[in-house]
Amino acid sequence: MDSSVTSGTYIRNISYGLRRRLSDFLDHQDMWKHVVVSIRKPTGGPRYSHQHVKRFECLLAQGKSPTVELLNDWGTTNSTVGELVDILRSHSLMAAADILLPEQPLSAEARQACYAAAGPAPPTRLIGQEETEPPAASSSQQTQPLEENTEAGHTGSFSSFQYSWNFDNRPTSDGGSRIGEGGFGIVYKGFLNNKPVAVKKLNPMADMPLDKLQVQFNQEIQTLKVLKHENLVDMIGFSCEEQHLCIVYDFMANGSLLDRLACLVGSAPTVPSCQNPNSNLEDLILCFSSLKDRTPPLSWEQRCSIAEGTARGLEYLHGNHHVHRDVKSANILLDGGFVAKVSDFGLTRASAENTSATMMTERIVGTRAYMAPEALLGQVTPKSDVFSFGVVLLEILSGLPPADENQGFLIEQRYDIDDEDEDLTLEDFVDKKMSDWEMSQVESIYCLASNCLHNRKNRRPVIGQVLSEIHSVVKSISVDARG
Ligand SMILES: Nc1ncnc2c1ncn2[C@@H]1O[C@H](COP(=O)(O)OP(=O)(O)OP(=O)(O)O)[C@@H](O)[C@H]1O
Ligand SMILES: [Mg+2]
Repeated sequence: MDSSVTSGTYIRNISYGLRRRLSDFLDHQDMWKHVVVSIRKPTGGPRYSHQHVKRFECLLAQGKSPTVELLNDWGTTNSTVGELVDILRSHSLMAAADILLPEQPLSAEARQACYAAAGPAPPTRLIGQEETEPPAASSSQQTQPLEENTEAGHTGSFSSFQYSWNFDNRPTSDGGSRIGEGGFGIVYKGFLNNKPVAVKKLNPMADMPLDKLQVQFNQEIQTLKVLKHENLVDMIGFSCEEQHLCIVYDFMANGSLLDRLACLVGSAPTVPSCQNPNSNLEDLILCFSSLKDRTPPLSWEQRCSIAEGTARGLEYLHGNHHVHRDVKSANILLDGGFVAKVSDFGLTRASAENTSATMMTERIVGTRAYMAPEALLGQVTPKSDVFSFGVVLLEILSGLPPADENQGFLIEQRYDIDDEDEDLTLEDFVDKKMSDWEMSQVESIYCLASNCLHNRKNRRPVIGQVLSEIHSVVKSISVDARG
C-alpha cells in the first residue's frame, strides 16, 4: 500500500506501481469496462463513448494494459483517487479499491462490540495466533466486509481479513494445521469466530509468478462472490496483503472425495476425538476406523448422492456461464454430512453469454488424467467439465485413482471392460470396499460415465441430462431402501 495516497490525490499522481497493481485486477475479465462506463464529465454525461471503449480494447491486442491507458487518459483531468475508489466500490471491486484506499480497520469500539456479541472469548481468532490472543490491531489490518453489513463483526459475510502467517506446517494428524496441498499452495485449518475454516495460502511459483497469481486470485474471488449454491464450497473471505494471498473457505469436515475413496486417514481433516461427547455415531465409526489407519469406505448410496450433488453444483455453474475447468475428485469436497461441494473456481472462466461457446486459452489448465481431448488443445467448453465428471464417475464406481503408475489412466480401463475378449468385467471393476450396490444401478452409472467420456464433445450429454440420470439412480436406491 502506498500510504501517501489519499482520496484527494489526483489520478495522474498515482504511482506506476499502484497502476500496475490496479491493472492486475482490472484488466482481468475486462473489469476495467465497469469503470470506464461510470466515469462522468463535470457536466454529468459519460466521459467515454463506445468508440473510446473500443480503442482501449484494441490496446490489449498490442500487449498494453487498458487500465493503465485509461488512467493515463483520465489523469489529464483533475479527477481524484476518491472518485475512482467510489466507482470501484459501486461495482463491488473492493480488492481494487483497497489497493488505493484500504478500508479503515474496525474502530476499537466496533471491535469491542463484536467481542461482546460473541461472549467472553474473542470472536475473531486470527489464524495462526494463540486461541487466547485478541486480534492484532496492526495498522494495515483490514476487516472490512465486501458486501456491506449493517452490523460490525457480522461473520457470515464475504470479508477481507489480515491474517497472521504462523501456521503450524505439520499435518493435522500430527497436531499441526496443514490439511492439504495443491497446485496453487497449501491449505491450513484455522478458526474464525470459533468456527473451523480452511485457509488456502497461495504460493507464487516458477510458472506462476506473483502478478499472474494475483490475477488467478482475483478471478477466484470475483467468481466465488457471485456464485453461491449448496453444492459449491462457500468462500468466507480472503486476504491480499502484499505477496500474502489467501482464500478462506468453509471447512469441509470430510475432506476430498479423492481421499475418502482411498480411505486415507492421514488426510482426513478432522479425525474426530473418540472422547468428544458430541461425537455422533458416524464420528465414532470414523474415529475407531482411524485407529486402523483408514476412514470407512463410502457406501454406494453415499457415492451416488455425492455424484448427484456434484452434478447439481456443475449444473449451477454452467447455468451461470461458468466452466469449472478443473473438475476432479480432489476438487469435490465433503461436508460433515457428506454433502458434495465443488471447490476451486480459480480456473473457471466466464464464458460470455453462451454456455456452449468454446473458448481458446493460451494456457492449458486442468489435470491431465481428467482432461477432454479438446481441453488438451486449449479449448474451453462446459462439455470438457462433463468429460472430467465422467472420470469422477469411474472413480466413484471403482474406488481407483484417476491415474496410477502401474495401471495408467483410469479411463483406459474402459476399453478392457467394453471388450468382450478381455478379462476385465464391470463387476470386477466395482469397488469391493462397498457392499450395497446393485448391478442395474452400477450399469446405469457406468453407461452414463461412458457417454460423458465420448471423445467428441457434441456426443456428450449436457450436465442437466447427467444430473437427471443420476437422480433416477438415487431415486431407485431410496425406493429399494424403503421396499
Ligand atoms: N475447504 C476445505 N475444507 C477441508 N479441506 C480442504 C478444503 N479445501 C481444500 N482442502 C483439502 O486440501 C487439499 C488440497 O486442496 P487444493 O485445492 O489446494 O489442491 P488440489 O485440489 O489437490 O489441487 P488443485 O490445486 O489443482 O485444486 C484437498 O484435497 C483437501 O483435502
Ligand atoms: Mg483443489
